Amino acid sequence: ILNLPLVLLSNRGPVSFDRDVSGRTVNRGAGGLVSALSGLAEHLDDAVWVCGASTEEDAAVASEAQGGSILVQTSPYPHVVEDEPDGPSIRVRLVTTDPAAYADFYSVWSNPILWFVQHGLYGRALSPVITLVEHDAFENGYAAVNRVYADAVVDEVRARGGKALVLLQDYHFYLVAERVRELCPDVVLTHFIHIPWPGPDEWRILPAGIRERLLRGLLGSDVVGFHTRRYARHFVLCAQDLLGLDVDLDNLLVFVDDRVVRARYYPISVDTAALEATLSTEDVAGHVAMLRYTFLDGERQLILRVDRTDPSKNVVRGFLAFGALLDQHPELVGKVSFLALLQPSRTDVPEYADYIALIGAVVAEINARHTKDGRQPIDLRMAEDFPLAVAAYSICDVILVNALADGMNLVTKEVAVVNRRGGVLALSENAGAHEELGEYAVTLHPFDVQQMADALYEALTMPLEERQRRLAAAAEQVRTHDVGRWLSDQLDDLAQLAGYL
Ligand code: G6P
Repeated sequence: ILNLPLVLLSNRGPVSFDRDVSGRTVNRGAGGLVSALSGLAEHLDDAVWVCGASTEEDAAVASEAQGGSILVQTSPYPHVVEDEPDGPSIRVRLVTTDPAAYADFYSVWSNPILWFVQHGLYGRALSPVITLVEHDAFENGYAAVNRVYADAVVDEVRARGGKALVLLQDYHFYLVAERVRELCPDVVLTHFIHIPWPGPDEWRILPAGIRERLLRGLLGSDVVGFHTRRYARHFVLCAQDLLGLDVDLDNLLVFVDDRVVRARYYPISVDTAALEATLSTEDVAGHVAMLRYTFLDGERQLILRVDRTDPSKNVVRGFLAFGALLDQHPELVGKVSFLALLQPSRTDVPEYADYIALIGAVVAEINARHTKDGRQPIDLRMAEDFPLAVAAYSICDVILVNALADGMNLVTKEVAVVNRRGGVLALSENAGAHEELGEYAVTLHPFDVQQMADALYEALTMPLEERQRRLAAAAEQVRTHDVGRWLSDQLDDLAQLAGYL
């Protein structure tokens, strides 16, 4: 199937541009989705990645390219080496859209509404759900922006003779597949959704007309991919319940018009080689020394969390659980620190800005209550610093992942690979990663603060041998199911479906 040209689409692309005194600079995107797919795009003869222009410099590049694509030199590992002249390269098409339409698309629909519905965050009792503002923002924002991106994909497919493998990514683009299929009937089309897919009742929060359009849009694909079987099942149930379509629940099939759409699940993973390479850099070694000095002298222990400041990550209840742990086990005060590396996220969405304020208030209160010998129990750092995160992964005693809902959660897998201290995975039962790694973890119930406090205690007091045994098993699971496997399983299935095998 890889003899076909490849057209990828995601909101955040594999590179973005900035400008400093030396001129234009290239930053390589570092998220899971981007690193998972970059390798593929770099190694194919004919691949193009359609994505949003996210900086001013991106917009300048897009306008120089006059709507076409450009070839960008990248580096093998985003955090290891600077751009090398003979490094791999990737073809990107940066799409610009009307700023007001994009704001409605991203900050009204994609993040507050779709993200909230799919992570079970939508308040039903008090907050207005859909008013005229949201109806307008759906048409003029979400649908309009989806059309612009769909047309860019169509353009790239047509430039390749109308036949291509099209890989659409995530919740920003639910209306794209239908239009691409209509205009380019010969494509092989998959849409991978990186976040949870809830059952039909959750979707009933949205007006019938809108949820039906979203589902119909997705059903333009040949395959709709998810991280877990549970999400794939929910998707098929939605097609049955909300659209009245015939389905085969055992085989995860939806029958629509004269086509069969397959729901599939492939758990995304990490690039273990890239992680190990990052771990062995001097930058990381420097951070390790500093972190050891700050948090791990004597018999002390370290709890870590690394997250975007997203309400779905359940940061506030994580701190409340830590506060309860210190209240109930005063002997731990001064012995256990909690390092939280949080990246501010989507701050133009009011719920996210409010959440950051709440995090600050809860941390201040717990620190005021439990500071001992001048040492505060929680060290909260708001910044994006991947080398620092990897350093902290390698030496933490416990990684706290207590998401209310999370498509996969790659932090868990990253820690499993790079931790060198018998770190315990304290893992929410609602993170996709729990399906694979739950048996090696201490399971958390994300709404139950007391249960989480007890689980943290269990993790901190677990005998070292047991900790090491579990960590080694988790690391083995991730190494044998890395991101290469995520991709090759999908491509094998697609090749079979499309008759290329
Ligand atoms: C999740 C989504 C991605 C998204 C990322 C960061 O992982 O699945 O599609 O890019 O969050 O969010 P942002 O809104 O900053 O792109």
